[in-house]
Amino acid sequence: MKIISSKKDLKTCILEHKANKKSIGFVPTMGALHQGHLSLIEKAIKKNDIVVVSIFVNPTQFDNHDDLIKYPKTLENDTKLLTSVSCDILFTPSIKEIYEENVASQKFNFDGLEHQMEGKFRNGHFNGVGTIVKTLFEIIKPNKAYFGQKDFQQLQIIKKLVKKYHLNVKIKGCAIFREKDGLAMSSRNSRLTETHRNAAPFIYKTLKKARKKFGTENATSLIEWVENQFKKHPLFELEYFTIADEKTLETIKNKEPNKKYRAFIAVFAGEIRLIDNIRLKN
Ligand code: PAF
Repeated sequence: MKIISSKKDLKTCILEHKANKKSIGFVPTMGALHQGHLSLIEKAIKKNDIVVVSIFVNPTQFDNHDDLIKYPKTLENDTKLLTSVSCDILFTPSIKEIYEENVASQKFNFDGLEHQMEGKFRNGHFNGVGTIVKTLFEIIKPNKAYFGQKDFQQLQIIKKLVKKYHLNVKIKGCAIFREKDGLAMSSRNSRLTETHRNAAPFIYKTLKKARKKFGTENATSLIEWVENQFKKHPLFELEYFTIADEKTLETIKNKEPNKKYRAFIAVFAGEIRLIDNIRLKN
């Protein structure tokens, strides 16, 4: 595996592969790799000649400085994992390499997707995500890029980014990878206390119960039901639970035929913020 930290070197390397008619698959990450990331990378390896993984903890998508500082950094272990799955190129740029002297986001209009859910609670988050993903796409020019559905809103926003800017890359959304007890895999899970980690399957269990109830209950009463479950739980603080249209990400009041819905949740387990979601049957 080649480890590259300069844009110029990466561009040269990609150009060579493109000249040899190789297809490029790309998996952007912020490191602290887990099985969820590896499943994206394995998909990319199956479908592309060359796979690039980036590890870059993007400062402009954090509105909470503490969260940025404490974001887990495990580059040595990540490098070993990537070598073990035969990743071709690891891109690990510095902040300066990406942003030069101006560590700031571009302002995007994602047709309202950015104002829902995470957008309401994480100021400027999607401008930061849009900025880094667009920058990485411009450097790497991948044929396909892989994103997990745990960050479903991010996935829809990236699809919108690609459409709006006519970027020539296919976006592949991949199923959420879960621990055996149901907790959605996330780099932040490693920061949970033992007590919170042991209790964390409650989140997915509640989502599954909500999915069952969606067959018979309306969205508003279901939202209230979930809110109550969390009010009763001593270890978690619910930030939001909502049922939204997959396309617009707007909270729904009534079900309509031929639409796809998902339940979305954000929860504080102590100081660690966890998100998850589940596809609902209409
Ligand atoms: O999902 C993530 O890890 C990040 O938001 C991403 C897509 C790598 C951009 O920094």
